[in-house]
Order: sequence, then structure tokens, then C-alpha cells
Amino acid sequence: MLDLGSGGGLDCLVAARQMLQTDPSPTGKIYGVDRSSKMIELARRNASKSVLPDRLVEFIEAPITKIPLKDASIDLIVSNCVINLVPDADKPMVFSEMHRLLKPGGRLAVSDLLAKKDMPDHVRNDAALLIGCIAGASLVDEYHRWMVDAGFEQGSIVLANTNSDLNVYQKQTAPLSCCSSKQSCESSRKNADKLDFNEWVAAYQIYAVKGKHIS
Ligand SMILES: C[S@@+](CC[C@H](N)C(=O)[O-])C[C@H]1O[C@@H](n2cnc3c(N)ncnc32)[C@H](O)[C@@H]1O
Repeated sequence: MLDLGSGGGLDCLVAARQMLQTDPSPTGKIYGVDRSSKMIELARRNASKSVLPDRLVEFIEAPITKIPLKDASIDLIVSNCVINLVPDADKPMVFSEMHRLLKPGGRLAVSDLLAKKDMPDHVRNDAALLIGCIAGASLVDEYHRWMVDAGFEQGSIVLANTNSDLNVYQKQTAPLSCCSSKQSCESSRKNADKLDFNEWVAAYQIYAVKGKHIS
């Protein structure tokens, strides 16, 4: 399994525990990839607190647009709230990497925020809303096209709107640390406070399978 943008590594550690429940001596591996050295350190610290077989879980510092793992080596790719943080121009590379890394028949299960409609510039260009996973959300059709272009089986692609209420995250957007000055932070805060997140974005679950035949 591979977790893209693994952060503190918790999803990898939960997966390791589940794997050990069905197979106490697993031959497979779980990888977490994150470009932040601080996150990789945190994930390794968290893993060191769990009793796990040697090398079952490995955290790799790398961008998810260029992952140092072999072609067709992964059965399952997961990711939670990461792809929206990648600049639009680079998103097709993320899907190409997923397709390259999956074995034929391998699966993708991603959770991400997607845009319901084009966002105005004052939302798109707001640093706090980008960090808050709102401003970087891509349109559903665009996301679907990137997946098809990367080679995923058309008929296997599912983009399911969870219809969760995203306004519960409003107060957490625009943390002080994300702004270059108190003034820019306050303007971001006002921007976030005025915005109905549900009008612009939705939380999606995204699934796909890599075809059995390599083209
Ligand atoms: C919102 S956190 C989610 C962390 C984790 N998936 C979770 O559910 O707790 C986003 C993570 O993605 C990582 N990230 C963002 N862009 C990335 C990129 N281009 N390549 C690799 N990691 C990235 C960040 O460093 C951060 O750890």
C-alpha cells in the first residue's frame, strides 16, 4: 500500500495494524510519501511507538509528482486531503505517478476536496484558503479527465460526493502561522468568515482501478 501525502503517518499505521490482524507475518509493505521532512520525522516517531515487524512501514521524503518507487509495484494507493494542495499544472503528474506505480488490477481510494464551480480570484489566490484545502480544489470534470488521461479504466472511475458540511472547518482556516503579516492574516480570516465553503467545494471519495492490460 502507498499513502500519498502521509503527514503524521497515522493512516499507514492503522493499515499496518489491520494487515497484521489478518496476517501476523505479512510479506507486503506499506509506504507513506510526503515532501515535508518534518512530517516524515513525525511519522517515523509515531511508527517507532508502535510494535511493528521490521520494515513493514516505510516513510519516504519525496513529492507525490515524482515518487522513488518501482513501476507496477503497488496494490493499493490511498490519499487523504493532499491532491488539492498540488498546483493545478502538476496534478496530471500525480495521476500519472499513481498509474505508473499500481500493478495491473491495482486500486486507488482517495479522499479529496473538489470544486463545484470555478472560484473567483479572491478565493483562488487566498493563501489561507489554499492551506485550508479550499482554494486548490479542482473541478470534478477536470479531475476525472486527468484520471482518464493517466490511463485509469473509464468504467472503474467513481467520484462520490459525501455531502459533508464543510463549514464546520471555517474557524480552523487562516491559522496565524500561514500569513506573512498580521494584516494579510486578518484579511484572509475575513475572507474565510464570509465564505460559504459548501457553495464552492465538496468532500469527495474517489476510486479507480488500473486495467489488467498495460497499454
Ligand atoms: C492536509 S495534510 C494530510 C495528511 C494526511 N494525509 C492525513 O490525512 O492526516 C497534507 C499533507 O500532504 C503533504 N503534501 C502536500 N503537497 C505535497 C506534495 N506535492 N508532495 C508530497 N506531499 C505533499 C503535506 O506535507 C502534508 O503532510
